[in-house]
Amino acid sequence: MFESVRVDGRAPAQVVVTGMFEGGGLEPAVRDLDADGSIATAVGRPEATGECGRIVETFPRDRKPAPRVLVVGLGKRDKFKVDVLRNAAAAAGRRLAQLREGVASLEFDGVLRTVKFDPMLAGRCFGESIGLLAWTYDTFKSKKRELAAKRGKLGLRSTSKAFTKGLAHGLSLAESTNLTRRLSQTPPNVATPEWMAEEARKLARAVGLTCTVIKGKQLEAEKLVGLINVGKASENKPCLIRVEYKPRKVAAGKAGKKVVLIGKTMTYDSGGLSLKINNTMVGMKRDKDGGCAVLGAMHAIATLVKPSRPVVGLLAAAENAISDEAYRPDDVITYRNGTSVEVTNTDAEGRLVLADALCYACQVEKPAFIVDLATLTGGVITALGSTYAGLFCNDNNLRDRVEAASVSSGERVWLLPLHDEYREMMKSEIADIINSNANRKAHPIQGAAFLSHFVADGVPWAHIDIAGVHAVDADTGPFVKGPTGWGTRLLADLLAMA
Ligand code: BES
Ligand code: ZN
Ligand code: ZN
Repeated sequence: MFESVRVDGRAPAQVVVTGMFEGGGLEPAVRDLDADGSIATAVGRPEATGECGRIVETFPRDRKPAPRVLVVGLGKRDKFKVDVLRNAAAAAGRRLAQLREGVASLEFDGVLRTVKFDPMLAGRCFGESIGLLAWTYDTFKSKKRELAAKRGKLGLRSTSKAFTKGLAHGLSLAESTNLTRRLSQTPPNVATPEWMAEEARKLARAVGLTCTVIKGKQLEAEKLVGLINVGKASENKPCLIRVEYKPRKVAAGKAGKKVVLIGKTMTYDSGGLSLKINNTMVGMKRDKDGGCAVLGAMHAIATLVKPSRPVVGLLAAAENAISDEAYRPDDVITYRNGTSVEVTNTDAEGRLVLADALCYACQVEKPAFIVDLATLTGGVITALGSTYAGLFCNDNNLRDRVEAASVSSGERVWLLPLHDEYREMMKSEIADIINSNANRKAHPIQGAAFLSHFVADGVPWAHIDIAGVHAVDADTGPFVKGPTGWGTRLLADLLAMA
């Protein structure tokens, strides 16, 4: 929608954007902007309902050089919260994209003071929403230049210092999220496990992380059997990608302990021999979105959050394909922590590669806690739709922190249960556990119950099933149809407070 968006404090603004609540009329601070009374006239028009995202425009005569004012609806005053502001900001951003004016001044301090809303957080919401709107993906378009020429360059500013600071923070988070979205959008004939590894190396070089890739014989030496088996039918070979952030100064005690972020990175999920049917395969290039979000979060961690503890990202990357070498339903594989798994369904492949990463994290990294992100089950879409991701957690303290990061980032999670009865459901007759129970019960929880076998005792762990939230099928809020980069901002916020 925009060619670029940046904070621009110097250039004169061509547009002033401000807000109003439903039925609220003009706030005193907005009135200050209204020398000739034209804003008051505009908000008195019948279409100026103040509904979230509804915009009225006016052209005050005496304002130079800002001839246009947008007044954005902020909804009902008593229902106002961060989500509403993010959507209002997205609506304002979409209008700014149509206008193609160079610089917009965002003036919300006055109106938000009436609901005691933190101006820095408000700036962040605007930065995120407008930065997310700026995402484009023309890589495979033949007429890239023409497309780029149609988009404007937008500068954003505010007379409020706190708001401006938030704006820069939000734009930075959007940049990390847009990195995630680019990876997600890349088609599977390009985005192979090795391509993901190369992207991780590039990121590491650009922002000062270290990157190592375990592949081939090394996978065998490390006994990463899930990746080996799931990935063996494809000519695009599997790998475990490890990216590490090291702080300049490590905090003392627990606060300085390493955090591990794990992402399911299935560059394509055909289902394997348990083949996906009836076109349910379309879109499975996005089965790598857990890993994409971990890389985006590592970008945010290295460039913006800079926590005082090490953070390791592990991407379990493979392609679930078919050939005479494919792993099969009935195969048994034994993991490095000793757990044996009877494969009952090759389409429940994500948990098999995540199991490697969880074992590796617990045995090699010795983490303070682990969070994994995975497009794990269709069942979580049935349960929660696209409104919440499914959260599973074995530790109340970690759960509180993930939920707090969920609130500040606007990436919603809903806690689903872990219970020993679900682990019972995963018992195998010939091995320790099966990878899927055909009883069609509680699939997202089966996934989590399976994964719990690979988390060492005492390690706090959160599993987030993002199958319902990693993409949208129509333009919504700050997103265009396609990948949302879900998890990038939640993980960044989690590390900001952890
Ligand atoms: N990658 C899919 C889950 C998925 C489905 C993600 C739809 C995004 C959209 C996963 O590997 C899968 O196939 N899961 C199966 C598990 C079943 C075979 C136990 C599912 O959910 O149907
Ligand atoms: Zn699958
Ligand atoms: Zn999958």
